[in-house]
Amino acid sequence: MSEIPTVMRAAAIDEFGPADRLTVHKLPTPVAGPGEVLVRVEFAGVQPTDAAIRDGWTPPGATIEFPQILGNEFAGTIVRVGAGVTEFEAGQQVSGFRVLGCYAEYLAVPASQTVVKPEKVDWLTAGAVSASGQTAHTALERLGARPGETILIHGAAGGVGTMAVQLARHRGLRVIGTGSKQNQEYLRTLGAIPVVYGEGELDRLREAAPDGIDLAFDTAGHGNLRVAAELVADRGRIGTIVEPPLAVETGGLWLNSDRSARRLRELLDLCARGELRVTVRKEYPLDAAADAHRDVSAGHGRGKVVLRIGGGS
Ligand SMILES: NC(=O)c1ccc[n+]([C@@H]2O[C@H](COP(=O)([O-])OP(=O)(O)OC[C@H]3O[C@@H](n4cnc5c(N)ncnc54)[C@H](OP(=O)(O)O)[C@@H]3O)[C@@H](O)[C@H]2O)c1
Repeated sequence: MSEIPTVMRAAAIDEFGPADRLTVHKLPTPVAGPGEVLVRVEFAGVQPTDAAIRDGWTPPGATIEFPQILGNEFAGTIVRVGAGVTEFEAGQQVSGFRVLGCYAEYLAVPASQTVVKPEKVDWLTAGAVSASGQTAHTALERLGARPGETILIHGAAGGVGTMAVQLARHRGLRVIGTGSKQNQEYLRTLGAIPVVYGEGELDRLREAAPDGIDLAFDTAGHGNLRVAAELVADRGRIGTIVEPPLAVETGGLWLNSDRSARRLRELLDLCARGELRVTVRKEYPLDAAADAHRDVSAGHGRGKVVLRIGGGS
């Protein structure tokens, strides 16, 4: 059995605040408790949600304790299993999720939030698929996306949007995706009919979907749910992951990711078959975690930002 250091490196905050509060700390290596596995982390995805936590938002049910390690998805190798864990063993390569704690060389996580990484899935994909992928997957399920329908996805080039476009195409939907001018060709490569957001957007959307739009998923905010409400007759089929008040105002749905090992396994299997791919717009070393936060907070860009921690050797 390989030696596990008693101290590890992790990107953590000692108080809430801007990105520069996120720095590398030396902290005790966690221990796998009952029902948990201890994972040596290779990559951890970075989300706008992590930046919101750093700023002072506490996710429902979570407790923030300083120094607080951030990060809610990871890929790595199991190095120990806790009492009662029979379905995993040391040496297995896994992908998984937690609310906090993933920007670290080691993390202890419930075995139930961990899935074996298919051999064909690379480390980077396994470390960055869970958060955005599970959010997009949940949204399509809750909006009742069906083959042959037309879906409008606002913010289609982003972390969640990139996943939502591909998952909707995989389910047999026609996808209209909004993005900036720079991302139009990218959206086409994902399988969407691209539309530039901003002034005149409603007319462009009507032109792109002359037979109408059945459902809409807003990953961008900026009042986009109001645009969706103009186009989709059934308000129960428009939803946002960004602006809860607009869900109330329009009669649409407030969508929250419903993460599970089952959902993650489905996403990893799609990746292994080449039917879903994760776009990584930039990889940062753990030391540059603050820069990674500035990047995801920009609100523009293609796909995901990822921290390289072990490096996948
Ligand atoms: N409720 C939940 O469970 C949940 C889960 C995950 C994420 N979220 C939230 O969902 C949001 C998206 O996350 P993400 O990781 O996908 O972020 P992201 O990667 O930054 O993507 C945001 C996208 O929005 C687009 N955008 C910016 N301004 C726009 C506008 N005016 N109209 C239309 N699109 C616009 C950008 O497109 P261009 O680059 O082309 O400008 C960008 O690709 C974040 O606010 C995050 O906190 C919520």
